[in-house]
Amino acid sequence: MKIFLDTANLASIKTFADMGVLDGITTNPTLIAKENREFSELVAEILKIVPGPVNLEVVSQDSEGMVREGHDLASLGPNVVVKAPMTPDGLKAVRRLHKDGIKTNVTLIFSANQALLAAKAGADYASPFIGRLDDAGHEGMKIIEEILAIYRNYDFGTQVLVASIRHPVHVVEAAKLGAHVATMPPDVLDKMLKHPLTDIGLKRFLDDWQKAGLKLPQREALPAKQGHLVQKAQH
Ligand code: E4P
Repeated sequence: MKIFLDTANLASIKTFADMGVLDGITTNPTLIAKENREFSELVAEILKIVPGPVNLEVVSQDSEGMVREGHDLASLGPNVVVKAPMTPDGLKAVRRLHKDGIKTNVTLIFSANQALLAAKAGADYASPFIGRLDDAGHEGMKIIEEILAIYRNYDFGTQVLVASIRHPVHVVEAAKLGAHVATMPPDVLDKMLKHPLTDIGLKRFLDDWQKAGLKLPQREALPAKQGHLVQKAQH
């Protein structure tokens, strides 16, 4: 499963890109507005850090406007994916952009039927918002299961991008179901990599090492032959 970060925050994007765990980015108008930066400058910096898909959302409500904005956004980089809302005009725009060779993501999906229509319109990604469904008293993950089954039944190439993820359990559930992508806020990705037993274990290892007064060999201080062996062992 690909991991996307649901943010336009450069510091967070850089942190996870450096770890090699980031496959792409999703943004939306709210996330862009939060950064308080000029749009093109901010996006140029994101595109410099992220070689994978960078999802940027249109803000027009009519299909003509969405198509125009979609072309403008796509011109910012070859890895830009244009996000359009799950509305009649959004689907029309997706169909046109798809024909023009531009990658698209239908956002604000809350049912399996909406995801079916997004796939038929030619979307590359469909984004069901599971956290917001959970908030409304539904079982968000249920529609991920349904959408994946429908896409499999009819061989749709559209990827299921699980959005509005609220916690690490959502990520595990999405991965178990075989979702193609999960997009999550930086704090969820941060929680995924941490475990208290890792911290306790590491502290114990280092305390024992320090108490024993041991030191690791340094390559430059070793005779040539041994230095070579250390080098080999490290690979
Ligand atoms: C996805 O593309 C959306 O930006 C996002 O996941 C929305 O999540 P929220 O419900 O946390 O705002």
